[in-house]
Amino acid sequence: MEKTRAPATSQPKAVLFDAYGTLFDVYSVGLVAEQLFPGQGQALGQIWREKQIEYTRLVTTSNDGAHYQPFWQLTQAGLRYAAKRLKLTLTPEAELQLMNQYRHLSAFPENRDVLQALKARGITTGILSNGDPEMLGIAVRSAGLEGLLDHVVSVDAVRKYKTHPEAYALGEQATGLRAAQIAFVSSNSWDALAATWYGYRTLWVNRYALPFEELGTQPSRTGNTLNDVLGFFPAE
Ligand code: LAC
Repeated sequence: MEKTRAPATSQPKAVLFDAYGTLFDVYSVGLVAEQLFPGQGQALGQIWREKQIEYTRLVTTSNDGAHYQPFWQLTQAGLRYAAKRLKLTLTPEAELQLMNQYRHLSAFPENRDVLQALKARGITTGILSNGDPEMLGIAVRSAGLEGLLDHVVSVDAVRKYKTHPEAYALGEQATGLRAAQIAFVSSNSWDALAATWYGYRTLWVNRYALPFEELGTQPSRTGNTLNDVLGFFPAE
């Protein structure tokens, strides 16, 4: 079926957010990591994140998804890998402490105001994330965002991680809208790119002054914080 593109002038009817790195600060675990492993916290946090994402791709693209594991388990596996790679001894206590920290990530400070501004405009809001439902539920509750999100969608429903099209399709199914009517917001450039390819209007939140992906497609918008999502909705 051909996807109809909404005219560029029409405003999105819904905004869906990526969770980790976008609404919740993944690198805040680096602080705990630094306490546990002085001088290595940042490296551990970075390798952990990269490996976690690599594992999502590995299990989605291999053997028709036969090796799928929920995001919590891939996160734990990524942590174990990162510790081994840096030759750090990860005791069960340290692992528990870091994983617990991952469960209760800090939310970025502007989140609440932006979500409130969207709700005030009557815009549908939600999360579309690789996180499994339990992780997302805890993260949303600990950040106090539950009343501000209409949908919390986990790719676990299709057992395929982003950037698989079935994962992005969940956003259309949850909202009952076409991708072209939805703004998808991610701080992960690969996620903003693939969502653009899928057909979403996109905002890449470039929090760390990084270059965008060099694959020939640009997101609809680029910003530095979540506040930039309001650029989709200029004042009437
Ligand atoms: C997510 C990861 C990709 O929340 O950040 O889906």
